[in-house]
Amino acid sequence: MVKYMTAGESHGKGLTIIVEGFPAGFAISEDGIQEDLARRQRGYGRGGRQLIEKDRAELLSGVRHGLTMGSPISMWLENKDFANWHKVMSTEPVEEPGNTVTRLRAGHADMPGTIKYGQSDVRNILERASARETAARVAAGSVAKHFLREFGIEVRSHIICIGGIWANYDHPVDWARVVESPVQCVDPEAEAEMIKLIDKAKEDGDTVGGMVEVVATGLPIGLGSHVHYERKLDARIALALMSIQACKAVAIGNGWEAAELLGSQYHDILQPIEDNGHAANQPYPSASGPWHRDTNRTGGTEGGMSTGMPIVARFAIKPIATLAKPLPSVDLVTGKTVQAHYERSDVCNVPPAGVIGEAAVAFVLADAFLEKFGGDHIEETRRNFEAYQKTIGPRSWPVAAG
Ligand SMILES: Cc1cc2nc3c(=O)[nH]c(=O)nc-3n(C[C@H](O)[C@H](O)[C@H](O)COP(=O)(O)O)c2cc1C
Repeated sequence: MVKYMTAGESHGKGLTIIVEGFPAGFAISEDGIQEDLARRQRGYGRGGRQLIEKDRAELLSGVRHGLTMGSPISMWLENKDFANWHKVMSTEPVEEPGNTVTRLRAGHADMPGTIKYGQSDVRNILERASARETAARVAAGSVAKHFLREFGIEVRSHIICIGGIWANYDHPVDWARVVESPVQCVDPEAEAEMIKLIDKAKEDGDTVGGMVEVVATGLPIGLGSHVHYERKLDARIALALMSIQACKAVAIGNGWEAAELLGSQYHDILQPIEDNGHAANQPYPSASGPWHRDTNRTGGTEGGMSTGMPIVARFAIKPIATLAKPLPSVDLVTGKTVQAHYERSDVCNVPPAGVIGEAAVAFVLADAFLEKFGGDHIEETRRNFEAYQKTIGPRSWPVAAG
C-alpha cells in the first residue's frame, strides 16, 4: 500500500526520499520529522560526522499548507559534509579525486560489493552501504509515524543491551527516561556500565554492538494476515528490521526465550475483562476488545496478525566493522595482507539503531493499517477504522439445526 525509496551516498550531496501511498488530509511538518532525525544523530559512542551534520529533511512535494495531498511526498536531506568531499564525490569526472579505498574491511559491504559491481575502488560500494542512508529511512518512517498517530498508535524504542550489559526493565517502559539517557536505556545502572564499556572500546580502538527493543502501542486487532507468507505482519516486521545496516538477528516478543519455555510458560492466556477493574491493572496499555492478557510474550502478533497488544520487536546490532585499531585483511588490488581500511567511524551505533528500528516498524504498520482500512482521504480511513472497531467482540454462534 505504501512504499518508499531513498537515494544518495554517505558523502554525496545529500539524500532523496520519495514516500508514496499515504492518504490525503493528515498533518506533516518538517519540524516533526526533524525530531526523529535529531534523535538518530544522538547517542553515546557516535563519531565526528554527527558534529558536522544538522539533519533536516526539506519537504518538496505531496504536502500543502501542512496537510498531505495523497500525492507522492518527496524530501531532500542535505549532507553538510559534502563541502569537504566535493572533489572525491563529484558526479562529474575530476582529475585525481583522491581517497581511493582498496583495503577491504571484513564485516562491511566492501568485498562482496566490489566483486559484484566490478569496482576497483571500495568507495563506490561503501558510500551507499553506509548507514548514512538510515537518515532517509528515518524521514520516511516519520511520515508513517505522523499517519499512525492519527489513530493513537505510537512507535518507540529503547536499548536493552550493549556489549553484553543488559537493562533491567518492565513494561510499560518509562519513555521520558529513555529519551534523556545518552544510550537510550531506561535502567540507570546498566546505562552507566554501557557508557564505561563504550569508553573502553574507544580507548582500545574497538567497537561494540547490542540489542534494541521497538514497542508499538495502540494497535487494533487484525493487521496483517495468516493466509500467505508475505502478508504476515511478524514476517514483514522482521524483513524491515533485518534490512537495517549491521542488524544480524530479529525476534518478535520473547522470540528467543520461546526456544526454552514450555507451552504452559510461554503462551499469553486470554481472559475476559471483568467489571472489577482488572483491565486497568494490566501491564500493557489496553488491548482493543473485551478481553485482556497479563503477558505479551508473543510480542503482539499471532498467526501473522496483530493481537491488539503492543507489538514488541527486538533486534541485534553487530559491532561496527570499521575499527580504529584495524583487523588484518586483504588489499583488493595487490591481494596482499594489509590492515583493514579505517576512516572516521562510530564506536557504538546501537542508540541510533533504535530510532531507525522505529522507522522500519512504523512503515510496516502504516502499510498494514492502510491495507486493512484503505481510504484516499484520512477521514475515509478513519470511518473504515471506526466501523471495524465496533465489530470487535465475542461472536454469537448459530445453533446447529435439529
Ligand atoms: C546507525 C548506524 C551507524 C553505523 N555507523 C557505522 C560506522 O560509522 N562505521 C561502520 O563501519 N559501520 C557503521 N554501521 C554499519 C554498516 O553500515 C554496516 O555494517 C554495513 O553497511 C554492512 O552491512 P551489514 O552489517 O548489514 O552486513 C552503522 C550502522 C548503523 C545502523
